[in-house]
Amino acid sequence: MCGIVGYIGKREKREFLLDGLKELEYRGYDSAGIAVLHQSEINYFKASGKLDNLTEKTKDFRSLGFGIGIAHTRWATHGKPTEINAHPHWGEFSFVIHNGIIENYMEIKKELQGEGVSFLSQTDSEVIVHLFEKYIKQNFTAQVAFEKTINSLKGAYAILLISKIAPESIFFAKNAVPLIVGRNAKDELFFGSSDAPLIGFADEVIYLEDGSYGWANEKEINLYKNSQKMQPNFKLLNSSKIYAQKDGFRFFMEKEIYEQSIVTSETLMGRIKDDKVFFEELSEYDFNDIEEIKICACGTSYHAALASSYLFERIAKIRCSVEIASEFRYKEPLLDKKTLFLIISQSGETADTLQALKMAKKAGLKTLAVCNVDNSSIVRISDVTILTRAGIEKGVASTKAFATQVLVLWLLSLHVARSKGKLSEDLCKTEIKALRGVPTVLKVNEELHEKLHRLSKRYLHGHGFFFIGRDIFFPLALEGALKLKEISYLHAEGYPAGEMKHGPIALADSTLFTVALMPQTLLYDKIKSNVEELSARDATILAISPKEFALADDFIKTQPYEHPMSEFFEMMVITQLLALEISVRLGNDVDMPRNLAKSVTVE
Ligand code: G6P
Repeated sequence: MCGIVGYIGKREKREFLLDGLKELEYRGYDSAGIAVLHQSEINYFKASGKLDNLTEKTKDFRSLGFGIGIAHTRWATHGKPTEINAHPHWGEFSFVIHNGIIENYMEIKKELQGEGVSFLSQTDSEVIVHLFEKYIKQNFTAQVAFEKTINSLKGAYAILLISKIAPESIFFAKNAVPLIVGRNAKDELFFGSSDAPLIGFADEVIYLEDGSYGWANEKEINLYKNSQKMQPNFKLLNSSKIYAQKDGFRFFMEKEIYEQSIVTSETLMGRIKDDKVFFEELSEYDFNDIEEIKICACGTSYHAALASSYLFERIAKIRCSVEIASEFRYKEPLLDKKTLFLIISQSGETADTLQALKMAKKAGLKTLAVCNVDNSSIVRISDVTILTRAGIEKGVASTKAFATQVLVLWLLSLHVARSKGKLSEDLCKTEIKALRGVPTVLKVNEELHEKLHRLSKRYLHGHGFFFIGRDIFFPLALEGALKLKEISYLHAEGYPAGEMKHGPIALADSTLFTVALMPQTLLYDKIKSNVEELSARDATILAISPKEFALADDFIKTQPYEHPMSEFFEMMVITQLLALEISVRLGNDVDMPRNLAKSVTVE
């Protein structure tokens, strides 16, 4: 999703802005631009496509000495990903960048057009700069003009605006989309959509609240909310720059798959004590009046939610339902205060999920977030958060974030079970033993990886993939199919194995590839029959199982683990690597697949 970077100070601006955008690349984008105001002259550059195009266009541009700059990566919402629609947008003397959606932009645009303003782009964002200039022409000061502009906007936004009439200031506003302001001892000021571009530059940051706006220059930050001046609330910014380098791997996604063993150890750290699950975050949280858990999420996080719903009912004996956030928002759900509302999000910024959380809060439900990004919008709003500790995930296709989400949710099911007095000593022992073993299960076996690499060449054509599984392996099948379609652009669906006979089996033929998840610990005979039905119709079967399966065209032998979750995690890695290897052979951009964004901050 769009990324924003801003700078006020004496540093060379082009380099800082482009490096900052690079740090935000993982969010996904399809065009980019920068504008620098220096000695009352504004230079701006825009380019569609990758940042390299913008870097090339700006290669001869430098701005030394004091100046201000704004930079943006755009992920198209209104209007195609063209250079014209890339940000910044300008009027006669001002430039704006915007992340989010201005819902009432049509009304504003029509009104401005009626007054003779012409628009260059198809974007909603362009209205901001024209509205600002309209108020300037009506002789309002820049500050008042900006405040009036912001008050006219409805929707979600993070905005940075610069203008020749206030050449030392950046005007900023934030509502429902993240925006951070940072500063350091050298009187430099920084803006960013996340911490990432600011690390190593800013010492302390303000995570702006929804509805706040203001203007900043080298000397001061003026922050307002509802026309009231606010005291900026600075927090120290962690300066350790452990940002992912690829560490010899070909892609961030590959590195992140290999990292799963380490990050899951981090996830577990301090959370198993005396053979019991322990969440410091939940020490004051009472589950006794909770009768049901409702989980809301999108994408991969939704699959983690689905997998955990089996665990909550089976282990904690608590009713559990799962909703896709974008559906939940508009279904006028009946919410009960005895329901715990559990939100799962890697980024903590997904607009649909965030909105669902706000609805649940408004309805008076207890809320708990499972999230990977501290200080994200979801973390700040929910009553309590359990951080997944996966570290920054750069590959757009989520891998290690999923692994840590499932792990946290499994731990949580045990925690809830114990709090509600539903956990027997025996079950607790078995589960803790399996939990402790997860980092080992997740160590990637290089021979297996090599085998998947070789196998992948047989799966580059065909008319589609079915990933099938039962029980917790059904959500894993959904996730396996999602991984494959995200990065290979091949058609893949996840299905409950027992459901194939009710329709999808009609597609079966030799170029229909079925990836069958056949664990030995859960319903083996049932899934075996389902796979046999497909094999009888000549479907090509790739079976993943610890048990030899004679009807498989291709076979990946897994370890004979005794716990379903151990089998789950091993098969998860296999489906991730399979998707990766197919994508590589097809020559796709593994880390930044077409049309996708890492963090979707619009609905
Ligand atoms: C985007 C990403 C997906 C992710 C989904 C939910 O669509 O491309 O990988 O699963 O958003 O994101 P979240 O950050 O809320 O988990």
